This record gives sequence, C-alpha cells and structure tokens, in this order.
Amino acid sequence: MSRRPLHVGLVGGGRGAFIVHPQQRAVFFDGTRRVTCAALHQDPGVALEEARNWPFPLRGYPSYDELLAAEMKLPPGERLDYLLIVTPNHVHFDPAQKALLAGIPVFCEKPLTTTLAQADELARLVEERNIPFCTAHTYLGHWSSRLARHIVRSGLIGKVRWVDAYYLQGWLADRTEDRGVQQAEWRVDPERAGASGCGGDIGTHALMQLRYVTGLEVARLSAFLETFVARRRLDDHFTVYCELTNGARALVRATQIGVGHKNDLGIEVNGEKGTLVWRQEEPERLLIHLPGQPDRVYWRGEVKANDGFLGDLPASLLAEPTIPSGHGEAFHDAFARLHRCFEEDVRAYQEGTYQGADGSRYATVEDGRAGIAFLQAAVESNARGHAWVSLAGK
Ligand SMILES: NC(=O)c1ccc[n+]([C@@H]2O[C@H](COP(=O)([O-])OP(=O)(O)OC[C@H]3O[C@@H](n4cnc5c(N)ncnc54)[C@H](O)[C@@H]3O)[C@@H](O)[C@H]2O)c1
Repeated sequence: MSRRPLHVGLVGGGRGAFIVHPQQRAVFFDGTRRVTCAALHQDPGVALEEARNWPFPLRGYPSYDELLAAEMKLPPGERLDYLLIVTPNHVHFDPAQKALLAGIPVFCEKPLTTTLAQADELARLVEERNIPFCTAHTYLGHWSSRLARHIVRSGLIGKVRWVDAYYLQGWLADRTEDRGVQQAEWRVDPERAGASGCGGDIGTHALMQLRYVTGLEVARLSAFLETFVARRRLDDHFTVYCELTNGARALVRATQIGVGHKNDLGIEVNGEKGTLVWRQEEPERLLIHLPGQPDRVYWRGEVKANDGFLGDLPASLLAEPTIPSGHGEAFHDAFARLHRCFEEDVRAYQEGTYQGADGSRYATVEDGRAGIAFLQAAVESNARGHAWVSLAGK
C-alpha cells in the first residue's frame, strides 16, 4: 500500500487567525500529511485572496460548502482525506456535519459545538458511519500526559480521592475585546462562543485532562460562572466543584483574569497512596509523591520499562515517537502526536479496517460531547444558585 501523504483541508485560518498555525505545523510535522485545500475565511473574496497568498500552494475555495462539493468530485487520492476545522466555536458544527455526511473524517477544534443537541448529532453521525473524528484537546498529546494516564490507571497512587484540574490565563483581565483583538472579540460573544466563555474556551481542556488521566467521569457538579470584567456578557472565571463516578471529588477550574498566568494548565491527582502532579508549562516532567519516599521526577525520554517502580509500561507508550530528552517537546509536538495518531485511523478507514477510536490517543467526538454536556450542566447549576446538577443521562 502506497503511503502517499494524506491531504488535509482547512476551514478557517485566514486574516490574522491563531490556532491554524500550530495546527498546520502539526499537519506537516511528519511529512506524511499536508494541507492541500482550504476555505480560509467567512468572506468568500477574502478566502480566495488569502489562499492565493498562502505561504504554500493550496486549492482555495470561497466557502467550506464549495470546498466539500468540489473536493468530492476529485478522485480518491487527490481529494482531501480529512477536514481540519479551526474556526470559532459557532462554525464547528455545520462544516463537521457536512463533512461527515460526505464520508470525510474530521479533526475539529474544541469546544466541539455551541449546543448539546449539535454535539449529540455529530456523535450520532460518527457512530452510525464509523468515521474517524478528533476533538482537538491538545494537551493529551503530550507524552507526559500519556504517562500520567498510565500511572493513575495502574493504581500506583491508589484509588483517586481528589483532583485539581485547572487552566489559568490572564489575557482577558481587562477589556481586551475593545482593542481589536480578533481572538478576544468572538470569545466574549455568546452567539459565537456558546453559553460559557472561559469554561468553554479553557475549562473544557481542564475537564478533558481530568477525564483522560483518571478515566473518571463527572457524576454531578455545582458551578460558579463569574464575570469580573465590566460589560462582559460571558464568564471570565469558571469554578466547578465535582463529584466523580468513583465518589472522588474534584475541582475543574479556569480563569482568564489571573494576571500573570499564561497557559497554566495542570492537574494534581491525590490518591489513597500517593499524588501525581503535571503542568503543561513544564510538559517534559511529571512528579510522583509517595509517603515516606523521596519525590520522583520522571522526564520524557528517560522513562524505562521495569525501572523497579513504575512496573510494566505499555509497549505502545514506549514506542511513541519522541526526540531525545533534553531537546524540549511542547505544544507543537503535542498537536503533532494527535495528528499522527489520527492519520493512522484515517488510513485504516480508507482501507476499510477502521474499528473506532477508544480515546487513548486523541479525544474523540464522545469526549467533545462530554465537554459540552459538562458546560451545559455548569451553566444550569450556576443559573439555579449553584445547585448540584447530575450529568446522568446528559
Ligand atoms: N486546541 C487548542 O489548544 C486551541 C487553542 C486556541 C484556540 N482553539 C480553538 O480554535 C478555534 C479558533 O480559535 P482561534 O483563536 O484560532 O480563532 P481566530 O479568530 O484566530 O481564527 C478563526 C478563523 O476562522 C475564520 N472563520 C470564521 N468563520 C468562518 C467561516 N464561516 N468559514 C471559513 N473561515 C471562517 C476566521 O476568518 C479566522 O481565520 C476556536 O474554536 C478555539 O476554541 C483551540
């Protein structure tokens, strides 16, 4: 079977956009994928102009509808192999649904959608048609996130009692949206961001890290969605007290008014026998505390199977491509790891051997849906005086 590079189609990314650039680098990272077509902007003229001026040649289209229609007329091998959606939140559902209906795998930015009904529909389509779908929760692409997941699930720190999962930023601490910052403008607008601002934007990342590392779900929650900056219509501070499915408790918290914080995502898991600590601003290391023992720091690239402490490590974890320790991996590597894993599933899908994704290598449509269900419950709890809201059946 020839390993021609997979063709990726972009929706969004023109005119000063942000996440398209890390995403695009991650697509090209391994030489086995490349961006070949795009609908780069909501204005058809700008979309075509941006495509003409893009730093490398691509087939530019005035809209994602026209992209999908024209690409599907091309023979397999020439057309796009998967769609990468990097638009604001309110423009995730429609292109994702249309791509799935055309049989095209989707790699979609988070939060998955702006309503639970939309998330349900995407999950239904993915299941019905058995199509690869990734929700772009970047941070579980860090090798150390994979290791953290293995360690907690191996029982080394015992039954989980408490989790602090957080994402702290400070860039919206004043009216950033009034200074022409495109990324701020739509993030504070409920029509484009969804019913929660900070919670949708980064609280969903903290939730995903909790679910990915511990394997636990939120059973019920009590939420505070707060807005500190004047005249802002959505929360810029998001604090959710959770009961998890094993009876453990957790805080899923996010802020965008924490002056000095940059992209301070992290997780601390306290188990009955020990504690695990990980922060994405230092993604190469992972800390384990067991009582009466020296603290252990594990560095990516310096973890060996059967080191007398961690026990067996999955061969798949040790086989994940990385660079030698000390040459730092970070955000782009994490994104690339997600695309690399997604590529394998897209190739299997095209060969007719795709068996579905279990969420161990990238966040699935179900993970994206869980994020939206969590947000909806948090908004409801906040509106009802921070009442406990159950996620059962949501
Ligand atoms: N995974 C992560 O770590 C991460 C980080 C940042 C942002 N995001 C997510 O990525 C998405 C984009 O965020 P951003 O900060 O890059 O936003 P941005 O405003 O910088 O870029 C959005 C792009 O979408 C384009 N666009 C809007 N409507 C369109 C349409 N109908 N057709 C084609 N293009 C259209 C805009 O012109 C722009 O190019 C959001 O959902 C955000 O939550 C994820």
